[in-house]
Amino acid sequence: MKKLTAALVAAGAAGALLLSGCSSERGGSSTEETAGTSESGGGFAADATIGVALPQKTSENWVLAEQLFVDGLTEAGFNPIVQFANSGVTEQQNQIQAMTEQGASVIVVGAIDGSQLGSQLEAAADSGASVIAYDRLVKNTDAVDMYVAFDNFQVGVLQGEALLQGLAERKGEGPYNIELIAGSPDDANSTPFFEGAMSVLQPKIDDGTLVVVSGQTSFEQVATQGWKAENAQRRMDTILSGSYGSAELHGVLSPNDTLGRAALTSVAQAGKDTPVVTGQDSEVESVKSIVAGEQYSTIYKDTRELVAQTIKEIQALQKGEEPEINDTESYDNGVKVVPSFLLTPLIVTQENAAEVYADDETLFPLTQE
Ligand code: BGC
Repeated sequence: MKKLTAALVAAGAAGALLLSGCSSERGGSSTEETAGTSESGGGFAADATIGVALPQKTSENWVLAEQLFVDGLTEAGFNPIVQFANSGVTEQQNQIQAMTEQGASVIVVGAIDGSQLGSQLEAAADSGASVIAYDRLVKNTDAVDMYVAFDNFQVGVLQGEALLQGLAERKGEGPYNIELIAGSPDDANSTPFFEGAMSVLQPKIDDGTLVVVSGQTSFEQVATQGWKAENAQRRMDTILSGSYGSAELHGVLSPNDTLGRAALTSVAQAGKDTPVVTGQDSEVESVKSIVAGEQYSTIYKDTRELVAQTIKEIQALQKGEEPEINDTESYDNGVKVVPSFLLTPLIVTQENAAEVYADDETLFPLTQE
């Protein structure tokens, strides 16, 4: 235990060095060793402007984050600018540029497309701002100092395990007919979600326990542009009418609740029995569905916890202290491994919902109805 703590402290220190180096030094020179001295002034003003660039409202977690950031940053004494980019990537690029022009000391980014923000974030970093990737990794740029998220690969692992468990519980003996759904290809999270799930499911596909009747098993084939329910539903409709005939569909791997409910709707409209469907986000409609015995599982990623951790990191930066890092190897963005603080996602089924949501005043009451 002691050893682990020491390792974490060391990792944290390494991360902090990288962090201060990255916020002050751009352009690929190898002056990282001097990074430790770059915070000589230490931190920034206690009432500094903090920009938070959120993506589109593709799931409830983003909507929750908005108010939590406004309230939490204000309470901490900062001046928050929190913005959604509902019309897309260009809007988000413009917002980040404006945050930099307004002198933001930290820019928190939940990217729509993690690969399209390089020049805006480089400009932010050049202005002296620190950049924190929030929930979604920012790819292919040096101009991201740290990543705060729930462990995305683990989310996928839990989804894969839940699918297998649900099939065994609700669909008798295998083999089972299943279909796979992945998230939006522009979201850096979609691949680790899918890879985590496939690390559990692929061996069962290989040994014949699971049969993907459509034959669509690659990420490209199963991805859902923009995380849009109608895209997932249309694809499921096509698969059901084209590949299933009178066969049953026993299970669907879905990366989140919105797409899971779309799959349930498609199957119901095709007149088939309710399959075992996974999800993520603990959205109100899905929690109700799980309690009612329809959707099989979701994931709880408490947005309050994620926002609170992000604000904690901003406060550390403000004081010129080391930010908290607990992972320095998992998230390579194509240019560097981004020092991360990863939180633990929880699997939720009908069986443990009341227990998992015990401290959530919105979700717990749904488990008591
Ligand atoms: C988030 C998920 C969410 C999805 C769609 C992902 O980046 O991690 O929680 O379901 O975006 O909004």
